[in-house]
Amino acid sequence: MSMNAVELAANLLKEGKLVAIPTETVYGLAADASQMDAIAKIFIAKGRPTNHPLIVHLADISQIWDWGKDLSQDTIQDIQLLAHHFWPGPLTLIIKKANWVPDIITGQQDTVAIRVPNHPLTLALLNKMPNGVVAPSANRFGRISPTEPIHVQKELGNKVAYILDGGSCQVGIESTIVSLASEQPLVLRPGMISPEQLSAILNKNVLTTHKAETTIRAPGVLDSHYAPKTPFYRILTSNTERLITIAPLIKKILAHYSNYKKIALISHGEYSTSELTYCALSDNPDYFSQKIYSTLHTLDEAGYDLILCYLEESIIQQQPHWLSILDRLQKATLDNILITG
Ligand code: TXA
Ligand code: MG
Repeated sequence: MSMNAVELAANLLKEGKLVAIPTETVYGLAADASQMDAIAKIFIAKGRPTNHPLIVHLADISQIWDWGKDLSQDTIQDIQLLAHHFWPGPLTLIIKKANWVPDIITGQQDTVAIRVPNHPLTLALLNKMPNGVVAPSANRFGRISPTEPIHVQKELGNKVAYILDGGSCQVGIESTIVSLASEQPLVLRPGMISPEQLSAILNKNVLTTHKAETTIRAPGVLDSHYAPKTPFYRILTSNTERLITIAPLIKKILAHYSNYKKIALISHGEYSTSELTYCALSDNPDYFSQKIYSTLHTLDEAGYDLILCYLEESIIQQQPHWLSILDRLQKATLDNILITG
């Protein structure tokens, strides 16, 4: 009798073990949401402070109602609209929690975060887990999120009972988090689903944390670091036009960082140089986000002295999706370096 990977993962979770699960955003470090001892292991494995709340992952929208309480008709309608348009998908909803929801999940807050992820293996797994699973990103606290099984293996391989291999994550950065527990919908963490998209579906104003004052604690949205081990800086230039060629920029970088031997530069389009390692991601934010974390993981492993990222203003101003990428870069970089003429 052979057991398939999803069944194996479900059985291990039911035994109270930790399993790494694939989602469309990043890999998660999952525990059965009904087992407090198992959930406690997540915080130890990640080295994460216990007051940081976890996202509950469910198989479908029908399960959300058990987790919430005191939901107004308006909030119920907002949940339904967003769920029907974006779930399964890279969107997390924050709602007022039911009394039974334990503090270890919510970090003592009176709200709970819920998401239905879009990955066939994890949806099949969640269908075998009637109580849902809690899953933060499967990285050590303060590190960048994993988008490939190997990233989990390297960082948490000895802490998980099993890694459910679902290949490379297609979205590549963490879900958009929107709170429906405040007066107006409020984006707490930007992601590939933009405030404009949410606003269009809800037919109401959606605030972002930049526009709203909030006391809601959400570590992933504070100015804390989710960084590679290698020093990582974002390059800004005074040149706002699309660079005619990237060559002059590289010359300036090499002059500026002459003490560093092994330098990598992450940017948009193809370019060939022997003076440093040039990583061409894309002009397209969907593809760029898919590759950014895995590029950083790879460069980190390869022993670079310095990692740089250069995004062209003319490209990133075209598309709101760049905002969530800029948010993650802001958290991953030590500083912005202005290189002038
Ligand atoms: O894409 C994702 O959301 C991934 C995959 C695995 O689903 N998960 C993820 O989880 O990014 P994590 O724990 O790394 O980040 C979740 C963020 C944290 O910043 C946490 O503080 C916030 O969600 N959060 C969770 N519950 C919350 C709540 N009740 N109120 C405010 N923020 C909350
Ligand atoms: Mg995380």
